[in-house]
Amino acid sequence: MSDIYNIINKEKLDIVSKPIKDAHGLPNECYTSKEYTLIERKKLFEDKWMVIGVASSLPNVGDAKPVDILGMPILLVRGKDKKIRVFHNVCSHRGLKLVTKSGNIKNVIRCPYHSWSYNFDGELVATPHIGGMNIHQTKDFERSKSNLKEIRSYIWLDLIMININNNEMSFEEYIKPLSDRWEEFWPIKDRELINHSNDFGYFKLNANCNWKFAIENYCESYHLPWVHPGLNSYSKIEDHYHIQGLPNRFAGQGTVVYNPRFEGKEKFPCFPNWPKNKENIAEYVALFPNVMLGIHKDHYYAYWLEPINNEFTLEHMELYYVGEEAANSKKFESLRKQNHKQWEDIQKEDVDIIQGMQIGRNSPVYNGGNFSPVMDNPTHHFHKWVVQNLI
Ligand code: FES
Ligand SMILES: [Fe+2]
Repeated sequence: MSDIYNIINKEKLDIVSKPIKDAHGLPNECYTSKEYTLIERKKLFEDKWMVIGVASSLPNVGDAKPVDILGMPILLVRGKDKKIRVFHNVCSHRGLKLVTKSGNIKNVIRCPYHSWSYNFDGELVATPHIGGMNIHQTKDFERSKSNLKEIRSYIWLDLIMININNNEMSFEEYIKPLSDRWEEFWPIKDRELINHSNDFGYFKLNANCNWKFAIENYCESYHLPWVHPGLNSYSKIEDHYHIQGLPNRFAGQGTVVYNPRFEGKEKFPCFPNWPKNKENIAEYVALFPNVMLGIHKDHYYAYWLEPINNEFTLEHMELYYVGEEAANSKKFESLRKQNHKQWEDIQKEDVDIIQGMQIGRNSPVYNGGNFSPVMDNPTHHFHKWVVQNLI
């Protein structure tokens, strides 16, 4: 793999980490270069804890889902013991991408090329004719050495977190600073109540841009009046505060005026231990590299990114409510529909903007830009995380 400084000159990267008033943002190459993206895939995704999906999207034994992250094929499977396992999605024989469609697998994961088959634990259990016609095992080949390669994983708030290179600290330790931050208004015992909604619980957006734009845009509330005039009518810039996690693993913003305004007399049930004097707090935190979380007294969402390549990203929104009734009963259906629409409209407004930023990065005169020293701190925090972890 080539050295980062062969692609981007050192001064351009160094200036990102200066104090905000003297800093520039990430240089254009971080958004436009395919060669840079290969380095980024290793350093910012494979070496870190990242999101690859949500557990509730694989409810049954044998449910399987392929996901590709910047070209790397990965497979999620729910096993007979109900646990979700994550594997590299490649056959150990001749290297075919093993599973290409989501669905339920009845018995074994069978490679379509020569029918080598793996159980849901990833063990190679069938190798037809490997020793010649009708000889399915041979002393010259030890099946157990060709099992699927499992990836370290951990489920948190329904998110399937993975650390592909198995080199990061435990997830519990990694997430502790954010988890501790939320304890005073969203304690762990309340987090266990989240239920994914089956009807209005998901949407997907295509963004013709680099995945980082979604994260950096999410970090700031500076753009509210111009990009989200509807939202801004009741939740203004001045009602927001910055969040910059230390150690640097997350950033975002919070509001102090959260107050859902939906038609109808119903209201969503709230988390039982969310304190009354913090009812109007909601926090929007990007956990680097690829998930944006939203927590409120009455719902939670995870908006996770599937980066396809340096200039195309799939955005997956997963919405959760407090308890099964709020998430799935008829009684709250209209509210769920309204909330789903509200978030989809807002996220579409953001996608329009971030796609334009991708085009802007093809301008030779753009030098990473300048930050507002007051409004852009969480975005700068993210850019510093990128640079610190690349080098
Ligand atoms: S490549 Fe999978 S069985 Fe041959
Ligand atoms: Fe926005």
